[in-house]
Amino acid sequence: MDPDRPTLDPHNWPAFRQTAHAILDRALDAIQQLPSQPVWRPMPPEQRAFLANERLPQTGIGPEAALADVFSRVAPYAMHSGHPRFWGWVQGSGFPLAALGDLVASCLNAHLAGFDHAPAIAEQTTLRWLAELMGFPRDASGVFCSSGTMANLLALVVARNHLKPARPVLYASTEVHGWARKALTVLGLPPDSLRLIPVTPDFTMDSRALSAEIAAGRQQGHTPFCVIGTAGTVNTGAIDPLDELAAIAAQERIWFHVDGAFGALARLHPDLAPLLNGIEKADSLAFDLHKWGSMPFACATLLVRDPAAHLAAFASTPSYMAPDTRGPLAGGVPFADRGIDLSRGFDSLKVWVALRAFGAEHFARIIRQNVEDARRFAAAVLAHPNFELLAPAPLNIVCFRYTRPGADLDALNHELLLRLQESGAALISSTIVNGRFALRLANVNHRSTPADFGLLLETLERLAAA
Ligand SMILES: Cc1ncc(COP(=O)(O)O)c(C=O)c1O
Repeated sequence: MDPDRPTLDPHNWPAFRQTAHAILDRALDAIQQLPSQPVWRPMPPEQRAFLANERLPQTGIGPEAALADVFSRVAPYAMHSGHPRFWGWVQGSGFPLAALGDLVASCLNAHLAGFDHAPAIAEQTTLRWLAELMGFPRDASGVFCSSGTMANLLALVVARNHLKPARPVLYASTEVHGWARKALTVLGLPPDSLRLIPVTPDFTMDSRALSAEIAAGRQQGHTPFCVIGTAGTVNTGAIDPLDELAAIAAQERIWFHVDGAFGALARLHPDLAPLLNGIEKADSLAFDLHKWGSMPFACATLLVRDPAAHLAAFASTPSYMAPDTRGPLAGGVPFADRGIDLSRGFDSLKVWVALRAFGAEHFARIIRQNVEDARRFAAAVLAHPNFELLAPAPLNIVCFRYTRPGADLDALNHELLLRLQESGAALISSTIVNGRFALRLANVNHRSTPADFGLLLETLERLAAA
């Protein structure tokens, strides 16, 4: 090899292999040692300043030094969503096998616009497995994408393109996740085109109010084109009455989209699947695998019942990508034609590997365990004299708060939340439920043990008393 010709490959492969093996060991150590780390810690000012202010390196410090800095300067100050006592927002925990899948995918560096090669066939098969798990037809169309937000957005693009509504309005409950507002912006729809339907006391959409609102919309000359049901709302884990919404959408001849960002995966376990009845009737379904599927970020999925509608929204065949009869472009670029991205990585490899290695039933058992643990935690809150539940906990989210007679409970619980987060002992987040500040635990964590939940309540009590 001519040492004067620049390349990014190692000059010395044996030495690089040694570095690589050592780094892999350190990366695995970082996972294994999570339980002994603070879940989150504030960054020391000098570390923050180093990371924030470092100048663009014009000459390199070498692979060993650059990688070593990851472990001294970045990893310790990451928020550890994989820690057994991380239950904030809805962030999955990741797992070593899937991380290896990502590493191998990076090594292969396969382009997943489509093309006639094995990675595309494995990705298509993975999508078929996911469709099967969700009760969708075998020939449903699907695409992996970067986030639940993106998957939901793509679904609305497909729905609007399919129905071509003249004066489009769409419907979701008041509990719909914030992605919907972003989607309106991207779609160029005014904010009031999203009609927010009230919820019943269990935070699920009031389907009668939906029917009334659709009728009112039609009378005003609007064109209802989509009902969004949520399977697992971000605030409380409520599941909209999907069967009823499917029936209304069918009757009204409008698109039925389900945002199942985390909740859809509850369908994997037969004990939980009935909670999601009707999800299999959706025209489109968005769900993340980086939440309850525990896949390392980022890994989300959109399924669309009607493959032609999906393709019609995004397909474009420029001359330089035209499908051919033979060679790598035989079959075209189907995945690029199902979303926005043309260049796409092999993000599905970790899913393919993990499903083959563990089987879907293993994931189902974890999901069931998460729900059981969350329900047990909710019961412990209910039984505790100093805590109260603020919402039903049908799935894996528990909204609760500390109580003290005469105290400003919003301020008290906000302070308590920050003290807990800063303690590094556990991490939960917050929301507002019926106008009240709520501590919120979202359990998609395959590492938590019953003792971890006990420790959370004990720590909160101790911090509240301090
Ligand atoms: C119900 C729901 N929908 C959509 C999203 C957005 O998903 P993502 O964070 O992958 O964009 C979330 C995120 O928590 C969610 O809980």
